Amino acid sequence: MTSEIIAEASPTRKTTYAELVKRREKMLAPTWAQDWPNLAVIRAEGIYLQGLDGKRYMDFMSGFGVVSVGHNHPSVIAAAREQMEKQVHGAVGVTLHESALRLAEMLPEILPGRMDMFFFGNSGSEAVEGCIKLARNVTKKPGIIAFTGAFHGRTYGAASLTASKAVYRTQLGPFLSDVYHVPFADVYHSSHPDDPEKCVNEAIGSLETVLKRLIAPSQVAAIIVEPIQGEGGYIVPPKTFLQRLREICSREDILLIFDEVWTGFGRTGEWFAAQAFDVIPDVMAVGKGIASGFPLSAVCARNELMSRWEPTVHGTTFGGNPISCAAAIATIQTIQDEKLLANTKRVGEHLLRRLKELKGKYSVVGDVRGIGLMTALELIEPDSDRAPNPSAGKKVLNEALSKGLLMYPCGLYGQAIRIAPPLITNTSQIDEAISILDRSLATI
Ligand SMILES: Cc1ncc(COP(=O)(O)O)c(C=O)c1O
Repeated sequence: MTSEIIAEASPTRKTTYAELVKRREKMLAPTWAQDWPNLAVIRAEGIYLQGLDGKRYMDFMSGFGVVSVGHNHPSVIAAAREQMEKQVHGAVGVTLHESALRLAEMLPEILPGRMDMFFFGNSGSEAVEGCIKLARNVTKKPGIIAFTGAFHGRTYGAASLTASKAVYRTQLGPFLSDVYHVPFADVYHSSHPDDPEKCVNEAIGSLETVLKRLIAPSQVAAIIVEPIQGEGGYIVPPKTFLQRLREICSREDILLIFDEVWTGFGRTGEWFAAQAFDVIPDVMAVGKGIASGFPLSAVCARNELMSRWEPTVHGTTFGGNPISCAAAIATIQTIQDEKLLANTKRVGEHLLRRLKELKGKYSVVGDVRGIGLMTALELIEPDSDRAPNPSAGKKVLNEALSKGLLMYPCGLYGQAIRIAPPLITNTSQIDEAISILDRSLATI
């Protein structure tokens, strides 16, 4: 954003975009604050962001998958405000508070396999850390198997599992030991794009080989997988892939962990992707959309497993913050009251249909994929065999942003555009976004 239009930064101060960038460059670590597009926002409501430049933007990445029921949903804000007036902080263990307990009572109603015991944290990475600590502590086994293309977060354990881009691992090692990466069933990028089952067989074959040649199943605590890879490119695997992972885990007494940090809380049109794929994991990491903007995450499992995690082996100061838990309760209630799962399915199908029209119209669009409101457009070199085209991706993203639509890249080269609006989005808003996307694609 380059606009110099002066707007209200606060009731008492005015600022420009150039001034914000100068302050950012001086004070915020470049490793953190360089992400595209650094849009200066002064207000957010529903699916919209109000830019410092005076323009309105449609937020079609939901604040990185966080604002499931939209920005500043009145019910979520009211619940958080009410809780804030009663109690802001209460380190669980030192004190007990109603909102964490109430949330823990609600979650089994929506989780797969009626998971009924929880560890609340602050971020997705913290939930992933918790999952692998739980798995190792309970099974007394060291091995963790993860997938190429996976993104599980930035803390050391989570980064050790992450294999979506080498840059996330550059000059950081040594990583956690006994972590093995095997191929994900990424059909579109495989050598069998028209034969999903062949791709599944190959991915499962590689896993079985690792279990024979590198680490015996008796030494593997867990297999951790994103049911749909997010940062890796919004890769939707065939159902049979996840079902076969379940079979292997049950056969070999290995815990199956689903990282549902992106896919959870209605994103796929079910509460969780596990339900969309009919696969029940043993442990789940959830975060992002759980509290529609407030920091909260959870490790979820059934009591029989979670209660074997030895006391005080793990902990947190801020996890299960009363305000975040109150916001999570309101988020779940809003998804129920406003029938947002059904909306996500219906609007998501409409979105996918409209994206497929764009694929038919532009040869630069190589693939369209997704479930619910977690969809992506893959850009390729026209007339090539799926050669990634990140520069076209960047152009489309910039063009769309200038027309008021915020989306974000994903995939190994940034060649895919993720389209993941809040669950409250309606079909006419989708049509407005598709029209912007259409006009943006037409410019390249
Ligand atoms: C699937 C997945 N797991 C974990 C994380 C890490 O979450 P956080 O950034 O909240 O630590 C992310 C973040 O994008 C994610 O997409």
